[in-house]
Amino acid sequence: MSQHELPSLPYDYDALEPHISEQVVTWHHDTHHQSYVDGLNSAEETLAGNRETGDHASTAGALGDVTHNGCGHYLHTMFWEHMSPDGGGEPSGALADRIAADFGSYENWRAEFEVAAGAASGWALLVYDPVAKQLRNVAVDNHDEGALWGSHPILALDVWEHSYYYDYGPDRGSFVDAFFEVVDWDPIAANYDDVVSLFE
Ligand SMILES: [Fe+2]
Repeated sequence: MSQHELPSLPYDYDALEPHISEQVVTWHHDTHHQSYVDGLNSAEETLAGNRETGDHASTAGALGDVTHNGCGHYLHTMFWEHMSPDGGGEPSGALADRIAADFGSYENWRAEFEVAAGAASGWALLVYDPVAKQLRNVAVDNHDEGALWGSHPILALDVWEHSYYYDYGPDRGSFVDAFFEVVDWDPIAANYDDVVSLFE
């Protein structure tokens, strides 16, 4: 079984300053994200061992650990990719057209997304729902509670306290504003194009 590995950041640790500090990016990537990679590998090893022995005393816990840590690993990987020191601005092209069609306007989408970011104890996600064939905002607790089955994350914003408290204290809204100063719409638009090509 292959081991999951922590991906390198696509920029330097201090590249998102002054919006997100080098200290927060370092802790967040090297400690928190690493812990989800390690937890996923550990849970998968437990499951593999239990299949061999037939002793399933620890299987239920490991199944939950796969979901928690797997979602943590996958969403953090997206989160890092969705920021850039050259980010900011608004989406363009097909994604912009779809946001306008599904939410009325970019401003309408962002206002709703910011509500999700304020309400979630985990993540605010822009997802593509292939059943309804539309974009949706989703507020997720932890990494996996409140997910809409079948939907594909297009944009992932981490609103766990480890994401902003050192920089902004309890003012999560300022962190969300800061995220939009560094958001990189190019990979988000590419996610949208890839997912839509599968279902439409
Ligand atoms: Fe995080």
